[in-house]
Amino acid sequence: MARLAPSLLAADFSKLEEQVTQAATADYLHIDVMDGHFVPNISFGAGVMKSLIGKTDLPFDVHLMIEDPDKYAASFVTEQTAFITVHWEACRHIDRTLHYIRDFGVGAGVAINPGTPVSVLTEVLGLADLVLVMSVNPGFGGQKFIPSTLGKVAQLAQLRAENGYTYQIEIDGGVTLNNAEEVCEKGTDILVAGSAVFGAPDINIRTQAFQKLIK
Ligand code: DX5
Ligand code: ZN
Repeated sequence: MARLAPSLLAADFSKLEEQVTQAATADYLHIDVMDGHFVPNISFGAGVMKSLIGKTDLPFDVHLMIEDPDKYAASFVTEQTAFITVHWEACRHIDRTLHYIRDFGVGAGVAINPGTPVSVLTEVLGLADLVLVMSVNPGFGGQKFIPSTLGKVAQLAQLRAENGYTYQIEIDGGVTLNNAEEVCEKGTDILVAGSAVFGAPDINIRTQAFQKLIK
């Protein structure tokens, strides 16, 4: 049984509360933070996320696509924050960063880009509460799913079973109603979907259609 995390990045920023409310049956709200350095785009910061506290009950699934995440992670810690995920590619001391996030009492996640193999995470898989597999190159919503990244989901599921790890496996980028089932079959626990949810003619109906498909 997989869970759905609609990505706020694809919402209409002029009516965030209204749109997020329409996605209320989902499991998490995915928060894409981009700094214009780690990725070639700037999105929004902790202030926008915090403005939704009390407007939605969805736990925040924070995805930091930023350089030097140690400097900013604390500002995303709230009572509603479920996970804070940093990129392996952006961290010089990933073990330290994951400990640092966990010590706030929130889940610590590590993300890998399409060009990064699972093997770089070997030493920290036991520390991670979530591993995010990017299925597009990070920076923009609405890109095409890269099918070869699914192999990493299967690899992570196998490593978890063999070693007794407890992380959630999340996939992010290009997820649609057409590939959601296949993504789940490989062992994904949490599917992020941006444009496929918030770009739909009816956000509520689309959210429920996704959930029906992945449950
Ligand atoms: C991409 C972001 C994704 C993005 C997904 O850099 O990390 O979370 O919002 O958007 P879609 O589902 O439209 O590919
Ligand atoms: Zn994301």
